[in-house]
Amino acid sequence: MSCNKWRSDFPEITQRNIAYLDSAASSLKPVQVIESMKEFAALSYANVHRGVYKVSMEASRAYEEAHELAAKFIGARSWEEIVFTKNTTEALQLVAGLLLWNRYIDKEDEIIVSKAEHHSNLLPWVRAAEAVGAKVKLVPVNKEGVPMWEALGEMISKRTKVVAIGHASNVTGYVSDVKEVTKVAHESGALVVVDGAQSVPHMKIDVREMGADFLAFSGHKMLGPSGIGVLWGKQEILEELEPPFGGGGTVERVFLEEGRVRIAWHRSPWKFEAGTPPIIEAVGLSEAIRYLWRVGMEQVEALERELTEHAVRRLSALEGVRLIGPKDLQRKLGIVAFNVGSIEPSLVGLWLDSHGVAVRAGLHCAHVLHDEIGERQGSVRASFYLYNCREDVDRLAFALEELIKKGGPPAATSSPL
Ligand code: ALA
Repeated sequence: MSCNKWRSDFPEITQRNIAYLDSAASSLKPVQVIESMKEFAALSYANVHRGVYKVSMEASRAYEEAHELAAKFIGARSWEEIVFTKNTTEALQLVAGLLLWNRYIDKEDEIIVSKAEHHSNLLPWVRAAEAVGAKVKLVPVNKEGVPMWEALGEMISKRTKVVAIGHASNVTGYVSDVKEVTKVAHESGALVVVDGAQSVPHMKIDVREMGADFLAFSGHKMLGPSGIGVLWGKQEILEELEPPFGGGGTVERVFLEEGRVRIAWHRSPWKFEAGTPPIIEAVGLSEAIRYLWRVGMEQVEALERELTEHAVRRLSALEGVRLIGPKDLQRKLGIVAFNVGSIEPSLVGLWLDSHGVAVRAGLHCAHVLHDEIGERQGSVRASFYLYNCREDVDRLAFALEELIKKGGPPAATSSPL
C-alpha cells in the first residue's frame, strides 16, 4: 500500500525506489504528462500559427489552450497575459530586457532586490543596471536568511523603477509578503516583478489578489517538462511594450517603406514569443496543470507543510545537524536546508545518494544568501512535492544518523563533526 495515492503515477518513484527530495530543482513527471506529450508528438504535431492544414490548426489550438490553462492556474485576467519562455530565468531576463529596450530604466534609476534572491532574480537586474548606469539596492536578510522587506519603505525612492522579489526562497522556503511589498512599491510608482519559481508549483496563486505587475515561473518544477516557462504580465503593461527580440511569429506584417524596414507587431503574447515555441512542452504543461487541479493546490500545500514539519522534527533531533531558515514553519514552503557539522555539503549529498536519497547540495545559485548567513560552503537541501511521504523523510533522517554515527563520510581524513 502506497503512502499516498499520487505516488503510483510517478514511474521514477515506483521503478527506481528512490526518495526523491529535489523537487525545488525540478519535479518528477507523472505518467499522464509523459503520455500526453508522447501522443501529441506522435500524432498531432506540426508547427503552430503557420499552417492552414488541419494538423497545424489542431496543434495551434493545443498551444493556445496551454496559455488559457496557465492563465487560469494563476488567476490571470486573460490568456493574452501569458508569455511562454524557456524557464523562470528566461522569463525574468525577458522582463529586464523589455524594461531596458523600452527605456523604462535609465541612468541613476534604482532597482531593489533582496540578498535572499536566487541568481535568476538577481543577475538580470545587476546586468540591466550595469547596462544603463542604474543602481541595484539590496534588501538585507536576517540571521535566518529571511529577507527584511519591511525595510523597503525606507529604501525606496522616486528613482526606484523596479522592485524584484522572490516569492518563496529556494534555500529556506520562506514565503515573502508580496502583497505588502507591492503596496509599498506601487505607492512610489515602481513596478513589481515576482519570481514565482518556488511558490507557483506549491500554493494557490492569484495574481490579481497579489497585485504585482509581472510573475515568472517554470513548467519543469510543477510536474511539467523542462523547456517551458511562463511570464505573466499585466495586459495594459504588455500592450505598451515593444519586444526586445523580433523574429518568426512576433509580427502582423513587415513593410519596406522607402528602403526602411517597418514592423507592425502582433498583440501579446505572440509579439514576445519569437521563433518556433515549445509546442510539445506546452501540451505537457497543460496536462501538469490539470493534474495539479485534480490534486488541489490547497491539498498540495497541506501535504508539503506536514512533510516539512516532520523533517524539521526529525532533523533537529540529530546532533550535529544545523538547520537553515526561519523557525516559524507557518511562513515556509516544503524546503528544508541544513548542514552536518563542517562536512562539505556535496559529500553529504553523495552519502545520501548511496542511501537512495536524492537531494541538492551546494550553493543552490544563491551565493549571496549563503555568505550572508555564514554558510559559505553552501548547504544540503531537501525539498518536497505531492508525491513524497513521511517514509522519504525518514530515509533521509536514518542516512544522516548513520553518517553522524560514523563521524563523517569515508573520504574525510579527520572527523568533521
Ligand atoms: N532553481 C533551482 C534550484 O533551486 C534550479 O535548485
